[in-house]
Amino acid sequence: MEPHLDSTRAGRRSHLVAVLPGDGIGPEVTAEARRAVDAAGARIGFGVDWVELYLGADRYLATGEVLPDTVLKELEQVDAILLGAVGRPDVPPGVLERGLLLRLRFELDLYVNLRPVRLYPGVASPLAGVRPEDVDLLVVRENTEGAYVGAGGVVHRGTAAEVATEESLNTRHGVERCLRYAAGRARERDGVLTLVHKTNVLTHAGGLWARAARAVAEETGVRLEYAHVDAACLHLVTDPGRYDVVVTDNLFGDILTDLGAGIAGGLGTAASANLNPSGAGPSLFEPVHGSAPDIAGTGRANPVAAVLSAALLLEHLGEAGAAAAVEAAAVAALPGAGRYSTRELGDQIAVAVADEVPAPPEAGDGVAPGSRPSGP
Ligand code: IPM
Ligand code: MN
Repeated sequence: MEPHLDSTRAGRRSHLVAVLPGDGIGPEVTAEARRAVDAAGARIGFGVDWVELYLGADRYLATGEVLPDTVLKELEQVDAILLGAVGRPDVPPGVLERGLLLRLRFELDLYVNLRPVRLYPGVASPLAGVRPEDVDLLVVRENTEGAYVGAGGVVHRGTAAEVATEESLNTRHGVERCLRYAAGRARERDGVLTLVHKTNVLTHAGGLWARAARAVAEETGVRLEYAHVDAACLHLVTDPGRYDVVVTDNLFGDILTDLGAGIAGGLGTAASANLNPSGAGPSLFEPVHGSAPDIAGTGRANPVAAVLSAALLLEHLGEAGAAAAVEAAAVAALPGAGRYSTRELGDQIAVAVADEVPAPPEAGDGVAPGSRPSGP
């Protein structure tokens, strides 16, 4: 995506990023993610104009608003969105999840949910004998279809005759574009793409996924493998190194990535990117963890998943150097992270970002004028 030109500093590139801190630990972790991004921008020489927007439980309870159309319009104009978490026990389940999070995924056509599953050095996996090199996969979860579309309904509600349906919708278009994105990522890695589904039972949807996957594999030259979702769960625990890039439907991806986070040492490091790979609008970045109301306000939330999500955001905005620096700084903070507060970890990360990025060249060192980033 093209960076905006910052009018306050001639020639310096800048990005317009909306922050939705949300509920629970969301505000705490997004604050640290922002600091890491700002530290990288200051060092490398780009700016981020943050637009903070308040959506979530407080706004809903005060006004009944979940995602006003005017706010959605505003979000459509930004370069990227950083989201903390939504949901709180005093709001009925589904109101914010469907009305805010899923509505954003659907309305902004964020059809890929990219979820790296990595065991970082110094983080303990609950699996015995597993090393960081064993757990490094990329899950590409379809993000706008499947069981998440809300197709279905209830009749005879609350009676013994109650009937509820929840249909999974799968379109060739939706499945294919997700597979194409996954194949692209596989080509950058080992060239192997594993489709995870349940084709032996869900023959209608599974058949569509399998046919589309074969076509995309042929077209892109990746080697296609396949695993049933139940077997994939088993393998993730017994042999996580077996998979590299996994592509799967919305609900399977939801479940598999929590399992992935589990084997990688917990939700504290699980990042995600809700992408519209076409670049036609903003993409949205969020930690996989929820709002964790039980620890909100205690300073015990691990900000690393939010910081790593911000690194994915930077990569998406074309700031590869900054993304790498922020990721490395977050990963470096992990060993012993449990001993530090959210804020202390954020401090460590912000300081380490500067170490990761070489200092900008000094004036008069032979660099052509204009090619030097004009850091603040
Ligand atoms: C996730 C979450 C969401 C999902 C919920 C909060 C709607 O579990 O991002 O994985 O199911 O996608
Ligand atoms: Mn989930």
